[in-house]
Formats: sequence, structure tokens, C-alpha cells
Amino acid sequence: MTTPTTTRELRSKITSAGTLELSIEEVPLPPMGPDQVIVRVDATPINPSDLGLLLGPGRLGTARETGTPQAPRLTAEVPAAALTAVASRLDTSMPVGNEGAGVVVAAGTSEAAQALLGKTVFAIGGGMYTQFRRLHVQQLQVLPEGRTPAEGASSFVNPMTALAFLDTMRAEGHTALVHTAAASNLGQMLNRLCLADGVPLVAIVRKAEHVELLRSQGAEHVLDSTSPTFDADLVEALAATGATLAFDAIGGGTLTSQILAAMEVVASRASGEYSRYGSASHKQVYVYGALDVSPTVLDRRFGMAWGIGGWLLMPFLEKVGPQRQAELQARVMDELTTTFASNFTQEISLDRALSLDVVKAYAKSATGEKYLIVPSLGEGR
Ligand SMILES: NC(=O)c1ccc[n+]([C@@H]2O[C@H](COP(=O)([O-])OP(=O)(O)OC[C@H]3O[C@@H](n4cnc5c(N)ncnc54)[C@H](OP(=O)(O)O)[C@@H]3O)[C@@H](O)[C@H]2O)c1
Repeated sequence: MTTPTTTRELRSKITSAGTLELSIEEVPLPPMGPDQVIVRVDATPINPSDLGLLLGPGRLGTARETGTPQAPRLTAEVPAAALTAVASRLDTSMPVGNEGAGVVVAAGTSEAAQALLGKTVFAIGGGMYTQFRRLHVQQLQVLPEGRTPAEGASSFVNPMTALAFLDTMRAEGHTALVHTAAASNLGQMLNRLCLADGVPLVAIVRKAEHVELLRSQGAEHVLDSTSPTFDADLVEALAATGATLAFDAIGGGTLTSQILAAMEVVASRASGEYSRYGSASHKQVYVYGALDVSPTVLDRRFGMAWGIGGWLLMPFLEKVGPQRQAELQARVMDELTTTFASNFTQEISLDRALSLDVVKAYAKSATGEKYLIVPSLGEGR
């Protein structure tokens, strides 16, 4: 194959006039340095973490297809009040897509780059919603023999986060976990991981069918937050597991507060003594997602020994260092199609990723509706 010099890629721009513009642009590929390669991107997932950059605060109710079949484009209004939060990206056309997998089709002159030619690789490179991506050899990981790009496309964001939750739990002296939005792709991975590693898990979902889904996958403590008995059920599940740490992907609403309050009931029960400051047992919730962007509402019925913090994978990895990161990545590769398998319900082209019906579907981040962009697919698929 001749070395590609241009690529079609998905771009997201928010203008200072308050418009979100999604487009497919033909852009030049910069020349390769000795340690760089060109990857043909064959599979790249649309995860909630990609939606933050892709759609930002754009109002999907106002979205319209404004391009042509040759040059698809989608525009939507961005409320004026939301522009300050995205001030640093205003009027800049941004490439999107955290992770993906494909084949190395051209390589720089170094030995390390040449060794990758023809290999199926995974990259956490950013800008992966594109046909071809120039990357440094250090950004790539060769997939195990026989693994396809679709199997390897989600090798980092969700698997590493699930593993990092367990490391965080151990480092901070907890022995069990609570997880919300737990039927998510990440939640199903975490369930398999906790079962494999013998870590008690309390999984919280918001639909009865997702209770059944996780139970069918071996989960023991699965609760429906919409059930009238949820608060009482949560107390019993926390008592049974001893969980004093929660990872909350939702963020908005009262769930964080309900989890801390239930933890406090269990801790006070165990201490057997009354203290007006509450129990001495530290209770921690990390908000690691923003599935609900409404305010986090706290009803502080949980004493004084508690913490709420934000949690992100990349700072965690920086903190634990390259050796631990490599150990975690090695486990992901070993268990890529078992513990860390991702299910994709739709494969779509770059162009389809801008169709209004498709955007509305993946923007819901609904259980079992994970989209995979396959840039080689033709228009309309
Ligand atoms: N902080 C980090 O470093 C980091 C790293 C990786 C992932 N994440 C976060 O992890 C979460 C899961 O990612 P994923 O790829 O596994 O997601 P996913 O497979 O797309 O699933 C999303 C889940 O969220 C639920 N959900 C959507 N909107 C909700 C809402 N408003 N309230 C309650 N539940 C809601 C859905 O359930 P329904 O079917 O009931 O809607 C679904 O089960 C995301 O929030 C993502 O941003 C964060």
C-alpha cells in the first residue's frame, strides 16, 4: 500500500456564536518521523467519555443535518450559559475519539517502527475517529495473535478503569465496592473482574431488566434504584459486603447521598454507640462520570467521616507509574475476550456517525447500545 497522505476524519467544533458543528473533513496526514507509524483505523468505540468532546453541551433537540451526502454535517444550538465552560475550545475544529484499533500500514525508519508494519495494534491516541492516524510507537500496543480490531478497540478506557477501581479500593483500605450505572459496558466488566478476584460488589442499576441481566452474569448484590425498597435494600447489601467505597458514574441527583447515608446506617449499627458526630468509619464516593449533569444533591445524614471526590483514569495511572500501568495492560490483553470483552450492537461508518437518528441513539448511552465506528464502511452504513 502506498503511504496515505490524507485522511477523512470526524471533527467537532463549538463556535463562539453558540453552534455545535460536527463534520467530516479531509485533512493532510503530517509526514512520519523515524519512530512514527500510520495506522489504518478499523474500529473505534463511541464511549460516554467521547461524547463530552463530540457533543459537549450541544442541545440535541435542536440538531439538524445541514450537509450533503458527500460532506455530512450536523449542527445544534449550544446554550449561551454553557459557553464559558467550553471557552478554551471555542471556534477550534477538534478531532475526536479516545481509543481504537487497526493495522499499521506505513512505518518510519526506526527499528521499532519497522517492526510494527502489518501488525494489528491498539492505540489510545485521541483523534481516532478517522481513516488513518499517525502515531508514535510508544502510543501503540500490539494485539495478541488472532485478535481482531473490533475485539481490541476498547482495550484501554473501560478495562483499565475497572482494574484501577480495585487498585484504588486496596490502596485506600476498603474491601468491597459499590458501583452505579452498573449495567454499563464498564459495569459488566467490573462485575466479571470482581467475581474473578473475589471482591464483593454492590451493583446499582435503574431498571428491573438490568437487575436480571447482571444476575444472569453471576452478580449477587444487584439493586434497582427506582424500587420503593431501594434504601433498605442498599443498607442490607452494604452490611453483607462491608462496602465503604463507591464509584458513581451518574453524578447528578441524590444517589451519592443515599449511598453515604446507607453506609452510615451500617457503620452506626456496627459501632453500637451513639455519637452526635456519626460513626468513625470513613465512607467514600468517587464521582467518575457525568451521566446525569444535574446538580449533585447532598442530604448530610451520614455523620462527619466521609469524602466525595472526582476520579479520572489518567491521573490514577500517572500516580501508580509505568510499571503498574504495564501490569494492568498485560492483564487486559490476557483477558481481552473474557473479563474485558466489550459488546457492540452497531457498526457504523464515519458518515453515519453524523446522522441525526444515529447521534440521538448513541447520545443516550443506553445499556447494550454501544456503537463502533468502522471507518472503512461505506456511506449510509
Ligand atoms: N473517569 C474516568 O476516567 C472514566 C473512565 C471510563 C469510563 N468512565 C465513565 O464510565 C461510565 C460508563 O461507561 P460505559 O462506556 O461503560 O457506558 P455505557 O456502556 O454506554 O453504559 C452507560 C450506562 O449508563 C446508564 N445511564 C445512562 N444515563 C443515565 C442516567 N442519566 N442515570 C443513570 N444511569 C444512566 C445506562 O443505563 P440505562 O440503560 O438505564 O440508561 C447504561 O447502563 C460513563 O459515565 C463514562 O464516562 C469514566
